[in-house]
Amino acid sequence: MKMNRRTLAATLAAVSMAAMLPGTALAQKKIVLGFSQVGAESEWRTANTESIKSAAKDAGIELKFSDAQQKQENQIKAIRAFIAQKVDVIAFSPVVASGWDTVLKEAKAAKIPVVLTDRAVDSKDTSLYVTFMGSDFTEEGRKAGRWLVEKMKDTKGDVNIVELQGTVGSAPAIDRKKGFEEVIKADPRFKIIRSQTGDFTRAKGKEVMEAFLKAEGKKINVLYAHNDDMAIGAIQAIEEAGLKPAKDITIISIDAVKGAFEAMIAGKLNVSVECSPLLGPQLMTAVKDIMAGKPVQKRIVTEEGIFPMEVAAKEFPKRKY
Ligand code: AHR
Repeated sequence: MKMNRRTLAATLAAVSMAAMLPGTALAQKKIVLGFSQVGAESEWRTANTESIKSAAKDAGIELKFSDAQQKQENQIKAIRAFIAQKVDVIAFSPVVASGWDTVLKEAKAAKIPVVLTDRAVDSKDTSLYVTFMGSDFTEEGRKAGRWLVEKMKDTKGDVNIVELQGTVGSAPAIDRKKGFEEVIKADPRFKIIRSQTGDFTRAKGKEVMEAFLKAEGKKINVLYAHNDDMAIGAIQAIEEAGLKPAKDITIISIDAVKGAFEAMIAGKLNVSVECSPLLGPQLMTAVKDIMAGKPVQKRIVTEEGIFPMEVAAKEFPKRKY
């Protein structure tokens, strides 16, 4: 049948109207994304949650958000609930690296694609997830190490370091330790004299630093904290012990959140290595591509810098988190 211009235009208008109407076969179904977040342990995590929520809204994706309160069992429960609800895509930031194979196999059996954001899993079977997007934590550790080696190059004698590790068994705690050690081991003067977890929180960072100070006192030359929140907690402990943070003890941390910039501007933190939490837009793009059957890169690495205290005041106004 031949259509004249007017009939064709009317037909096209009717089709696009139908596509907008709920209940019609042509109505666009909203993509449903189930996201299991680690918790709300740090300023970084709060910014990451905000980025994911606002990007989902902007992308028109329905987000089912679940907070695991830093417990793996809660994340496993949330993932199982997403499978039962038949969401289109599951994304999560795994609190620890191991122990995911069973639940990921359940998602695979249900044909629900999985995206890892921020933290990796150590599963051998990489077909259990479509992509892993986030920082290179080992490189962040190396950056911290390189900065320290350079800073101490003209000093004499041992450099005694205390380390505040992130959550035990988490990818950032494992990799940031590894990257840092890889660099400092080249010079035997650098010694990690104490290393303990502060679980990525301010309260624990303070508590563990108090214990380090009690045990080692003025022997401590450097604090390496796996995130800014623990460093900020530790700064309080250092001040309460009558010492000057960033002067008596050199302090290096990771994330580069606004709180760290404030501490640097106040002269209390020497340097922060950047780890961007703004993964929301990237995640929504990947979710849409997966649903459209487009190829998605297996590993998407975030690009990041390093900010010493000397540039903090200039950089601060540009910071988004
Ligand atoms: O996985 C990223 C880490 O988790 C951030 O460095 C830390 O602040 C957060 O809690």
